[in-house]
Order: sequence, then C-alpha cells, then structure tokens
Amino acid sequence: METSDTWIVERTGIHERRIAAPYETAAFMGTKAAAQALEAAGLEPSSIDAVICATTSGQNAFPSTACEIALALGIKAPIAFDVAAACAGFSYAYSLAHNMILCGQAQHVLIVGVDSLSHACANTDRTTIILFGDGAGACVLGASEEPGTLAIKLSSDPSRGDLLKLPFPKRGQDLAPGETNDGAYLYMKGNDVFKHAVTILASLVKDTLQEAGMSEDELDFLVPHQANLRIITATARKLKLDMSQVIVTLDKQGNTSAASVPLALDEGIRQGRIQRGHNLLLESFGGGFVWGGALVRY
Ligand code: UT7
Repeated sequence: METSDTWIVERTGIHERRIAAPYETAAFMGTKAAAQALEAAGLEPSSIDAVICATTSGQNAFPSTACEIALALGIKAPIAFDVAAACAGFSYAYSLAHNMILCGQAQHVLIVGVDSLSHACANTDRTTIILFGDGAGACVLGASEEPGTLAIKLSSDPSRGDLLKLPFPKRGQDLAPGETNDGAYLYMKGNDVFKHAVTILASLVKDTLQEAGMSEDELDFLVPHQANLRIITATARKLKLDMSQVIVTLDKQGNTSAASVPLALDEGIRQGRIQRGHNLLLESFGGGFVWGGALVRY
C-alpha cells in the first residue's frame, strides 16, 4: 500500500510489530502470559481465586477467554470472566480485581490483557493496518496489609463511539437480503482520536495523582498505553517526567490494545528498571471512548 517506513516511524514511533499465527488465539497467548505471571509471583494455580481477561479478540462469546485460560492452567473453579473495554481493558480489569480483593471476594486475582487486533484491520486500510500488533500480558494482584493500589480512575465518553469502532461480523437477522458478511473491520478516525487521547490522558493522569494526594515528583515510572509515541511523550511532559521514567514498548510491539499496559509493566520489571516500592502510573485509552488510570506502588 501507499506508505513508508519513514511515515510510520515519524508519526507513530512504531518500528516493528508481532503478528499472531492462526493457532495463537487470545486464549493461547493469554495462557502463556498468565503462566509467566504465576511463575513471577511464585504462586501455584490453586492460589488463584479469580481470572479476569481484558480482551476484544476472544474466539467465542462463551466460553470466555478467561475460562479457557483457567482450564489450560488447571485453575479450579475460579471466578472467571472477560472484560471488553478495548485498549483500556486492562485498567478496567485491574480496578475490578482491586475491588474484589478489597471486599474479600478474592485473595489473588490473575489479570490478563490480550488482543490480536492486527487481524481486525483491513489490509487495504493504511490508517489502521500499520498500527496494531498482537500480544498478551498478565499480572497477579494479591491481598496485602501494605497499600499497593493508591488510586484508580475510570471513565468513558460514549458519545465518541463512532471515532474508533470494531463491529462484530453481521449474521442472521442482521444481514439484509443479498448482503455479504464482510467489512467488519476496525475503523478509526485517527487524527480526532489522537487529539482526544492527548487531552483526556492529560486530565486522567493529573486526576489520578490528585486522588492519591501525590505530586508528579513522587512518581517513579509512567506505564502508558502504547498507541503512539507522540501521545506518550505529551503525557510524560504533562507529568514533568523524563523519558527515562517512561516504559516504551511500542517501537517493537505496536499497539497491542488490552495487552499493551501489562506488556510494558512486565518489560519494565524484567529489565530491572521498575523495582519494589516504586510508584507507577498505569494509564490507557481506547474505543468507546473508555479510559482508566491506576497509581500503583509495586
Ligand atoms: O489505541 C486506541 C487509541 N488509538 C490512538 O490513540 C491512535 C490515535 N491516532 C494516531 O496515533 C494518529 O492519528 C495516526 C498515527 C493514526 C495518524 O497520524 P496523524 O499524524 O494523525 O496523521 P493524519 O491522520 O492526520 O494523516 C496525515 C496524512 C494524511 O494525508 P493528507 O490528507 O495530509 O494528504 C493521511 O492520508 O497522512 C496520510 N496517511 C498516511 N500516509 C502514509 C495516513 N496513514 C498513512 C500511512 N502512510 N500509513
């Protein structure tokens, strides 16, 4: 198509992406990430009380991807369900997990963010096909006497739903006589989404800090949704953070939607940059519009 590496790198910051093979379903990728999270947490599957999977790429309406992951890992009888909040899915799932622990419903919650939106883009649409990559990230949230989650903010603007949309393929009574079942691809009015994302994320990070009664200089790392490097740098600037305090993975992964924040978190931890006790600001924004932030002491 009519594009170039120079355009993509300059406008997005993306150099490489990972594309899932046909057998690498959301459940397959999610299971791999979840197994690594359990290992990192030093927990057996039997310790997990709930599995929440943030995804809009599951193979089935039911069984949920969360149920498939629980089955594959041998997690017996957990609370298990999927959360559909597009690229903000991980923030929504995190908040649910936090509240389940707070109210005593669970001790350990496995949160998985997984998507394969590269397959949801029309390969003729240069405004989307160059952006999305596939992947999965996971973490375990556990009950503790020490506060680990200092603030959470979630919100939405449903009036902007038409700017970023992924319809289900039509079937049955939705198909007009003679209509074929194609064209159910991801649609994005990129420039409008960009402007909203920058403005909304700027207020989100300020509000999340304020909710926790913290100032920017107490932050150690920003772990942002990886949609566009220009959006990430604008958010970092708002927080007066040096780019060395921002975890960036989109150069190698592109926009992995619900997987992007847990993948960035994982990379920051495994590289040894994020250490125990660090204050992290996680944020994400996606189609709906929906968005969320969490201030976390790791
Ligand atoms: O994860 C969910 C949230 N998603 C986001 O936050 C993504 C937000 N949006 C973006 O990241 C950016 O808007 C894009 C990367 C999608 C696009 O960058 P932009 O700087 O906003 O470009 P634009 O849409 O304003 O397009 C500028 C020009 C247009 O041509 P004209 O009208 O100036 O002649 C486009 O047709 O670039 C053209 N263009 C391309 N050219 C080469 C659009 N896509 C491409 C392409 N290659 N792939």
